[in-house]
Amino acid sequence: MAVLEIEIMGAKVLREKASPVGTVTDEIRILIRDMFDTMYDAEGIGLAAPQVGISQRILVVDVADEEEGEERHVHALVNPVVVEASRETGKETEGCLSIPGLEETVTRPLQVVIEALSPDGEPVRIEADGLLARALQHELDHLDGVLFIDRLSSLKRGILLRKWRKGRGRS
Ligand code: NI
Repeated sequence: MAVLEIEIMGAKVLREKASPVGTVTDEIRILIRDMFDTMYDAEGIGLAAPQVGISQRILVVDVADEEEGEERHVHALVNPVVVEASRETGKETEGCLSIPGLEETVTRPLQVVIEALSPDGEPVRIEADGLLARALQHELDHLDGVLFIDRLSSLKRGILLRKWRKGRGRS
């Protein structure tokens, strides 16, 4: 088990567009295992590679959706792409391991279809709704250097960031 250090907002890597993975090697599989360890240790439901300082297009999620009788969805995705997104959107509260202590309501498409490679390098297609769809979109954003606060109005974002920085003793 290897718990990696989680990058906190302000780190440059969180704002970079991550690179596609060429070949899914054993090294990538070890990174994925460490990402799961790190996510569980931090009690998160999703983690993207840039959050552990690796600018590559890899994410993991482990989501239990209450609306589905606690059915668990555990995925590790390499080079994920959203191929379909519903026009219908929904609002739910989100947080992020890279912005500890900050939560806010975010609007996102309710359903998405995502294509990616599995840790074995095989193509996978996931039709997601509910919390899984939300978690996957949040983690996918990380691969493009986008944080959930970027999806808020600039007014709301400004207020929240001031509060967050104050809480962390940075200003
Ligand atoms: Ni996040």
